[in-house]
Amino acid sequence: MLNIALPKGRLGEQAHELLVRAGYAEGSLSETGRKLVIEYPAAGVRYFLVKPSDVAIYVEHGAADLGIVGKDILEEDRPDVYELLDLKIGRCRMCVAAKRGFVDEGTSVLRVATKFTNIAERYYASLGREVDIIKLNGSVELAPLLGLSEVIVDIVESGKTLRDNDLAVVAEIMPVSARLIANKVVYQFKSAEIMRLRGSLEGVTNDKD
Ligand code: PRP
Repeated sequence: MLNIALPKGRLGEQAHELLVRAGYAEGSLSETGRKLVIEYPAAGVRYFLVKPSDVAIYVEHGAADLGIVGKDILEEDRPDVYELLDLKIGRCRMCVAAKRGFVDEGTSVLRVATKFTNIAERYYASLGREVDIIKLNGSVELAPLLGLSEVIVDIVESGKTLRDNDLAVVAEIMPVSARLIANKVVYQFKSAEIMRLRGSLEGVTNDKD
């Protein structure tokens, strides 16, 4: 039996759809109600529904063998896990954004509001730009509007949140999509099962290029 951590929410639903097509799940995730553990014994898998930012924690500690998680979270937390496959769902971009028309003159310390403090720190360190990172937990787009920061580092998917708040992308840091990850120890002794699942998933992600 493979134990797989799935992120709750929209990405989890997309991941479940992919797993259905790969033969590792049935129906729709919404039919399972509030259940946090879903088993498909015939397929040899059990899913745990966890907060997206907790997926890699379950996998790193071996509470789950595999997980599906956004590259943004992997880059932010850098867990000690294997990244096995780009699932090509949950595609978006990690960006720097600011009020429309903002130009960084580079004179004073730049205030950066973000949920992704490590990504932001590394990005500005690579530019040699002195910044003051302000950690927020959501609705990050408010920060420049309220004068809490000059810029934000955040996920941009459709761009609607930025547009609706008179913000614009200043720079793209990296593309983001969901990845299949594995616990490093489990990967050794369940390698046949894991590689079979990886292969089936790869087969249904190829048409997304
Ligand atoms: C994410 C992200 C942006 C928005 C981008 O927020 O932080 O706010 O989605 O999507 P868009 O470009 O399609 O508008 P999320 O819904 O995860 O909420 P939160 O960050 O405010 O918690």
